[in-house]
Amino acid sequence: MHILTKGCAAILLAFCIAPAWASSPEVIARGEYLARAGDCVVCHTGPGERPFAGGLRMSTPLGDIYTTNITPDKETGIGNDSFDDFERAMRRGIAKDGQRLYPAMPYPSYAKVSEDDLRALYAFFMESVPPASRPNSPTEIRWPLNMRWPLRIWDKVFTDKIGYTPDPAHDEAWNRGAYLVQGLGHCGSCHTPRGIFFQEKALDEQRTAYLSGGNLDNWFASSLRADPDFGLANWSEADIAMFLKTGHNTHATAFGTMIDAINNSTQYLTDTDLTSIATYLKSLPANQASNKEVAGAPQNGKAYVQQCAACHLADGKGHAPYIAPLAANPAVMDPDPSSLINITLNGSSRVVVDGMPDAYRMPQFRVLLKDEEIAEIVSFIRTSWGNKAAPVTADQVAKIRKNTDAASDAVVILKMR
Ligand code: HEC
Ligand code: HEC
Ligand code: HEC
Repeated sequence: MHILTKGCAAILLAFCIAPAWASSPEVIARGEYLARAGDCVVCHTGPGERPFAGGLRMSTPLGDIYTTNITPDKETGIGNDSFDDFERAMRRGIAKDGQRLYPAMPYPSYAKVSEDDLRALYAFFMESVPPASRPNSPTEIRWPLNMRWPLRIWDKVFTDKIGYTPDPAHDEAWNRGAYLVQGLGHCGSCHTPRGIFFQEKALDEQRTAYLSGGNLDNWFASSLRADPDFGLANWSEADIAMFLKTGHNTHATAFGTMIDAINNSTQYLTDTDLTSIATYLKSLPANQASNKEVAGAPQNGKAYVQQCAACHLADGKGHAPYIAPLAANPAVMDPDPSSLINITLNGSSRVVVDGMPDAYRMPQFRVLLKDEEIAEIVSFIRTSWGNKAAPVTADQVAKIRKNTDAASDAVVILKMR
């Protein structure tokens, strides 16, 4: 390699540039794998747009913003970005023009990504993603909130150091899992609760809030800690790996925004990486603070029997792994019932693994059932068959109904190139 570079100085520069810059197919393939691990495609591909051309609308507490074009198009994408520009956006949240990015881009997590992995990612985007022309859409955040300089302070207070330092107290598998979960996997951006400045309350296992469950976009991403009832206490490492690979296991089925993670990211990870993720998650102790006895008295189950028992059965056991059980399912006992209410109102979009959409799907009930009826059914599920959780009210259902729509029927498969 250096012989080639030195030769370049002597011989014709233009002649040498291409071979000196082209990355090996192995590096590009690794970059592609890492782009899967980071789930870049789900955010950076707007509806009907080419892969990574941007344009997906995302809501933030300040207003809506759009994801950007990260294809190597020179006019509208990142085609003129050097590796250093890319590194600053990915790990520090600073755009090429020096402006701060909104943390809707998960750079607080990507800060952990190694330089080596970033180089492979950069090679994948620059050398194998086809350029697509689509000018970036302006944010819909109004003045003065659209000023980006306060984000400088935000970054100072809420972001961590750059890179991941292996913890010598743990083995290689644990450290690989920690690196993937905290870094590219950005699991905490949904599964960690956020504070009043929209910051994740923890970025690693040093604090017990980490992965203790978070509410984003009307879905509650459950605790990934060893919390009994609503966490992963009863899931084995194999159960976790199977869930991430296929969207199903004997305890539960993926739904809500977790479907985006399964469909476009985790199913593509190797079994070794999935097992490492499971090893890391299983090492997180229960979060005592949220581990309260909140059980309500059993509720009236008549409406459940009429509407739900045909699929989920009278004893709540379902037909795992295709029709999720509701008994002993952690998502059913989340302290925050948003996901349970949301899926009952709106149903689920499709898990697509290996290009095959799921045959069974949770239907929507928003048209058929009133808020009171949904509250009654959901309260029944939360307090039956050994499930222990607080009942919910019609007001809680009304609030989520107002902010959501029925899940789409469409089978969406996002290509990366
Ligand atoms: C959860 C959604 C989300 C994910 C996942 C995501 N991004 Fe972003 N990204 C955004 C948003 C939103 C912006 C624009 C932020 C702004 O306007 O301040 C952005 C901006 C960027 C920028 C700066 C763009 C520019 O035009 O200068 C780069 C580079 C980038 N993302 C790369 C990536 C890569 C590579 C991945 C995967 C490893 C990724 N993003 C994953 C939401 C996301
Ligand atoms: C875009 C948001 C989002 C991201 C990113 C995300 N999740 Fe989730 N996840 C959810 C939601 C919402 C649920 C609850 C619905 C369900 O059970 O499928 C969930 C559920 C889960 C469950 C099932 C938990 C249970 O108690 O039923 C596991 C395991 C899981 N996620 C692991 C992960 C891992 C590991 C990552 C990172 C690689 C990750 N998730 C990233 C939103 C997300
Ligand atoms: C036609 C069959 C069918 C009916 C009727 C049905 N469900 Fe489902 N439900 C499913 C399937 C299939 C899933 C798995 C998620 C998916 O793949 O869409 C599911 C998932 C769920 C989940 C999420 C659990 C998980 O881990 O995935 C909840 C909660 C749920 N259903 C509640 C209900 C309630 C409440 C009713 C009655 C109001 C109901 N279901 C009626 C088929 C059904």
